[in-house]
Amino acid sequence: MIATNIGTNELNHLTFAGMDTVDLAKEYGTPVYLMDEARIRENVRTYRKALSEAFSGRADIFYAGKACAFTELYRILTEEGAGIDVVSRGELFTARKAGYPVNKACFHGNNKTDEDLRCAVSSGVGYICVDSMDELLALEKICAEMSERQAILIRVTPGIDPHTYEAVSTGKVDSKFGNAIATGQAEEIIRKALTMRHLNLKGIHCHVGSQVFAEDVFERAADVMLRFMADMREKTGRTLEVLDLGGGYGVRYTEDDPVLSIPEKIREVAAAVKAACDELDFPVPYIYLEPGRSIVADAGMTLYTVGSVKRIPGYRSYVSVDGGMSDNPRYALYRSRYTVFSAGEVEARETERFSVVGRLCESGDILQENVPLPCDIRRGDTLAVCTTGAYNYAMASLYNRLPRPPIVMLRDGTSRVVVRRETLANVADLDV
Ligand SMILES: Cc1ncc(COP(=O)(O)O)c(C=O)c1O
Repeated sequence: MIATNIGTNELNHLTFAGMDTVDLAKEYGTPVYLMDEARIRENVRTYRKALSEAFSGRADIFYAGKACAFTELYRILTEEGAGIDVVSRGELFTARKAGYPVNKACFHGNNKTDEDLRCAVSSGVGYICVDSMDELLALEKICAEMSERQAILIRVTPGIDPHTYEAVSTGKVDSKFGNAIATGQAEEIIRKALTMRHLNLKGIHCHVGSQVFAEDVFERAADVMLRFMADMREKTGRTLEVLDLGGGYGVRYTEDDPVLSIPEKIREVAAAVKAACDELDFPVPYIYLEPGRSIVADAGMTLYTVGSVKRIPGYRSYVSVDGGMSDNPRYALYRSRYTVFSAGEVEARETERFSVVGRLCESGDILQENVPLPCDIRRGDTLAVCTTGAYNYAMASLYNRLPRPPIVMLRDGTSRVVVRRETLANVADLDV
């Protein structure tokens, strides 16, 4: 199996976090997002322990809530003591609703509005990661008006291509995010930030991309960023103390994806950071990573019910399900791969290849193509799409006014609804 929390039981049913997914589909209806609480906690702990060990206690995570954000998740993160990265007032509001201590949060985004900035400052977020000169000037003005002094990071683009898909690669020079070292804009904004009376420049941040497996991407990013920090020290006399290397480690969606050992990866980054710091005679900064996907992806699974099964002789066969791109737009957006099972017949005697499609009025509404499923798959069967914890619920839409599925959290053989299913009344709630 692609993850250790997925298995089969004596009925040949798919299990997730030790629970029978066919039973869960019956109990909660479909489509439904399942989440494995133990796996979320385990992933958070793996990162935090490895960072602490590799950097002698001077490193932590900001969990990137863009991957998945809801109140119970922030409660779990509060209990785990992890930092968070938020990119909107909506995420910040959700974290605060959960009682999350937002002084451990970093507020990101390439176009924060004045209201976002005011809200972040008045809420007391730990850092605001400033994305542009425009924003720097706006934030200084806002902090002056509020008589506040805000700790900031500056987003820098190190110009590294992580060899992932163009659509999810944001660390190159030509990007709507950040300030490039190569164009001199990173230096310019650092110099300016140091003159701001209401801003306390603590360090720099980069994010080179997502679903990254390539060998040394984070090491190369760390090296470029540290050289830039040393250069800034020489030019301005100021030693920046924080280096945030962003998120991006890849997860296993299919058997073809490699297994990444996060502790090993972190040890490699630590070795690169220490080597660069030694060479540059620069103090090792406090390090942050911002994992999103690798915290929640394998803690998620989506269950659907099969509707029509259609075979077009000489072309292909389709299995339609009762959700689709409105609850998981990732195949439509990036051709993302997933592992799909017939939850009630995991090991089938005879299989056939199907395109698994949704029920939305869009030919691109495909969840996955070329999926081996039992030949006798039929209306009413339960289908499971694995590894849907990241960027599924978070990207869900109301397209076709299909109510969004609930999230059911699994823990120690029990289940509970942590986000309710949208109702038809909810769908028209805001209409006047
Ligand atoms: C600034 C920043 N940090 C962290 C992340 C999380 O990345 P991932 O979910 O791939 O770990 C992203 C994702 O786009 C991001 O833009």
